[in-house]
Amino acid sequence: MPTPAGRRLPRRSSFRRAVLGAGLAGALAAGLLTATTAPATAEAAPAAAAPDIPLTNVKAHLSQFQTIANANGGNRAHGRPGYRASVDYVRGKLDAAGYTTTLQQFTYNGTTGYNLIADWPGGDTGAVLMSGAHLDSVSSGAGINDNGSGSAAVLETALAVARAGYQPDKHLRFAWWGAEELGLVGSRHYVNNLSSTERSKIDGYLNFDMIGSPNAGYFVYDDDPAIEKVFKDWFAAKGIPTEIETEGDGRSDHAPFKSAGVPVGGLFTGAGRVKTSAQAQKWGGTAGQSFDRCYHSSCDTTANINETALDRNSDAAAHAVWTLSSGTTTPPDGDVFENTGDYQIPDPGTVESPVSVSGLSGNAPGDLEVGVDIKHTYRGDLVIDLVAPDGSSYRLKNSGWDSGDDVITTYTVNASSETASGTWKLRVQDVYRTDSGYIDSWRLTF
Ligand code: TRP
Ligand code: ZN
Ligand code: CA
Repeated sequence: MPTPAGRRLPRRSSFRRAVLGAGLAGALAAGLLTATTAPATAEAAPAAAAPDIPLTNVKAHLSQFQTIANANGGNRAHGRPGYRASVDYVRGKLDAAGYTTTLQQFTYNGTTGYNLIADWPGGDTGAVLMSGAHLDSVSSGAGINDNGSGSAAVLETALAVARAGYQPDKHLRFAWWGAEELGLVGSRHYVNNLSSTERSKIDGYLNFDMIGSPNAGYFVYDDDPAIEKVFKDWFAAKGIPTEIETEGDGRSDHAPFKSAGVPVGGLFTGAGRVKTSAQAQKWGGTAGQSFDRCYHSSCDTTANINETALDRNSDAAAHAVWTLSSGTTTPPDGDVFENTGDYQIPDPGTVESPVSVSGLSGNAPGDLEVGVDIKHTYRGDLVIDLVAPDGSSYRLKNSGWDSGDDVITTYTVNASSETASGTWKLRVQDVYRTDSGYIDSWRLTF
């Protein structure tokens, strides 16, 4: 093969990991880390574990609910502007994360109420796992524990699903109910408006109403045994004792679902009932005092939250959503390895640009993405192959009567019979004289 004049020597083959921060990628490139943390490909991934839900994020939502109440007469109650502002806040976060959101309107007490429903695209829509929380407060206060806490935990769980690129087997649906405080009005409206077919597609409903009570207990709804077990097992594994919820069966939004025959479950840290000394022994806090002394009153502010309880219950909520929907986690992007060096293509002749792949175990995926950026004055001249580490080649493009310039595209290759790690090459042949160009960059996404 002739060495064409003016051929620029390649810069060293570089790689980056799209899913890792630049700092870690730099450390890997510099050989500072011996063990890599390459995410498994979709094909190889085991059932995914739920992520830890960041308490900071949950608290940030509570601050926003407090700010909304402060700006709207001190509450977020049905029919008041603070309720609508709460809906808009939650909906904005969900829309930005890729959810399909719907506002369901109803009228109660002569005013319009809203349920906010958010569907995560994908999963079996004949097997829906729903999670919900009431978003309205009573009119006497901001309702931060009741029920900013459940609303924020469900929101942050939904956002964690999006961040993880979680692809559950079941279809996930999240709901924020209106007018719960006036008698489960929103959730009842939702359930009553489901056709029997739609209702039968809902495999389960998880309810989160008051999960950051300042003098917290750890209560699990004693309803569907499978759901109950998922929650209880999570707390047991952390060494946190739980009790069955008995402060008011049917007093929250799971009740309409339960009446319609949907399996339900949920978590609760206590309302007006008084903590016993036995409960204070095992959970800490103050015996002889309500779980939430500010229940339905003006002191239910951001100061009325037990952060440990809020953190644990948020994590338990995410764990239940993951466990009960199963599925695998695919990072939004795979690991990316690329060579950004310029390689002049002989006219005519052949050039190869290498990319060295390391840190991946097993074989390449069946949908290996090959991103190609070739600058050329007549792309019909070009034949392009991907060459695997063992030398086997995959034709990406043939020559032909295509007078367009440049090849800037992504090919998908079934490379599942190839070892992922090793040196891959992009081989580019220019089969006709006169028009010429160079490989600007190319990349492999595993
Ligand atoms: N749903 C009630 C409210 O919003 C609070 C409540 C009382 C509760 N007992 C419960 C919630 C039992 C869940 C489970 O005021
Ligand atoms: Zn309430
Ligand atoms: Ca040519």
